[in-house]
Amino acid sequence: MIIIKKKYDIAVIGGAGHIGLPLSVFLQNKGNQVLIVDPNQSNISKAKKGIPPFIENNFESNIKEALKKGLNFTENIKEIKEKEFIFVTIGSSSNTEDIKLFDMLINEVISTASKDTKIILRSTLSPETFETLKKNKIIKSKNLKLAYCPERIAEGLAFEELEKIPQIIGCEKKDSHIFKDFFQSNDFETLETDIKTAIFIKLFTNAYRYASFSLINEFNNIANDNNLDFNAVLDVATYKYDRLRGIPLPGFIGGPCLIKDMDTFIKSYEKDNNNLDSFFKTNTRYLEDIVNNCKVKFKDKKIIQLGLTFKPGSDDLRSSLSLNLRNELIREGFKVYSVDPFVESGALDFEIFSFKEVKNKTDNIIISTNHKIFDEIEFKNKNLLIVGRN
Ligand SMILES: NC(=O)c1ccc[n+]([C@@H]2O[C@H](COP(=O)([O-])OP(=O)(O)OC[C@H]3O[C@@H](n4cnc5c(N)ncnc54)[C@H](O)[C@@H]3O)[C@@H](O)[C@H]2O)c1
Repeated sequence: MIIIKKKYDIAVIGGAGHIGLPLSVFLQNKGNQVLIVDPNQSNISKAKKGIPPFIENNFESNIKEALKKGLNFTENIKEIKEKEFIFVTIGSSSNTEDIKLFDMLINEVISTASKDTKIILRSTLSPETFETLKKNKIIKSKNLKLAYCPERIAEGLAFEELEKIPQIIGCEKKDSHIFKDFFQSNDFETLETDIKTAIFIKLFTNAYRYASFSLINEFNNIANDNNLDFNAVLDVATYKYDRLRGIPLPGFIGGPCLIKDMDTFIKSYEKDNNNLDSFFKTNTRYLEDIVNNCKVKFKDKKIIQLGLTFKPGSDDLRSSLSLNLRNELIREGFKVYSVDPFVESGALDFEIFSFKEVKNKTDNIIISTNHKIFDEIEFKNKNLLIVGRN
């Protein structure tokens, strides 16, 4: 079947964020006209100059191309009126305050949008949020079309993954051709389902990933309690042994999605599920064990901490367990010199050093977020502890 590629007039609410900005840039570069709607002046002023406000592969060239092609920005939500497609990509979670903000925003979108507008919810939603939204009578009176099309990219890989991850479209059957046409015109492979299933798929995916990373941390904790080096266990157990292929490595599980989506999954579908809930305890214990190891290994209570962001190669500090580790160590009376070349000075309320500045302060080093750039450091004769192998 030949697909006739159409171009669309689009607004992206939350378009200056980690999901919204790459998406807006991507859609503009596909030939659509995109308006970013976001009050985040800091990100917008950088993006307008072609400067990536956060780390993504190939971000700068893509932003510059989108600016040349006419990417637009506004703080004023009223400008979504007359847009054919409206994306909602603001942050979301299962905490009451976030749900309230999301509900308020979506009500404003619905009352501002023109008749027949198509609204694509891309923020990760709970079923409860969707149930509340469905009750809004204006949806029917304005004949608005609603779809839940979750984002499934990993931070840093947006431009590669937007091109290749199939787009899940959750909507009413009668509307599915509209959203299918939209995404297929923009080169997405599409998978159609109903909204409830799409919500479950997105939350299940992240809850499952959280659980599988936690499970390996649970085994790590058990090995630790039995005075066994779990890295040595894994090296031997996985060598030329295909049945353990793809097994995750122990490490911190942080970041803006996995923890919150596991929490939302449990609250939404099975509040008393002790199996899933216990993984939060696993990860608390994983961190406590690291602090205890530090107490044994670094008797003089001085440490150079390498890496603060939630994962290597990222500048994102949201729900970073490396930050929690720093706080725990300080609470235990350690003097911590934190080093992270990806974090701008002034981003946190404590000083961030370069390795050069602190390398003579102590021989004790902990790698808490294993940025590739740390491979250049000579660790010979250092008292080194590596958190997992993230
Ligand atoms: N970050 C990820 O890797 C990732 C991956 C998949 C899905 N998600 C989901 O995508 C959603 C967005 O996450 P994010 O990481 O992009 O968050 P973010 O905080 O980086 O971006 C959210 C943006 O929304 C803007 N915003 C907030 N309130 C607004 C309002 N009333 N009007 C207009 N703009 C407003 C903020 O200024 C910000 O720029 C969340 O639901 C998240 O769970 C995130």
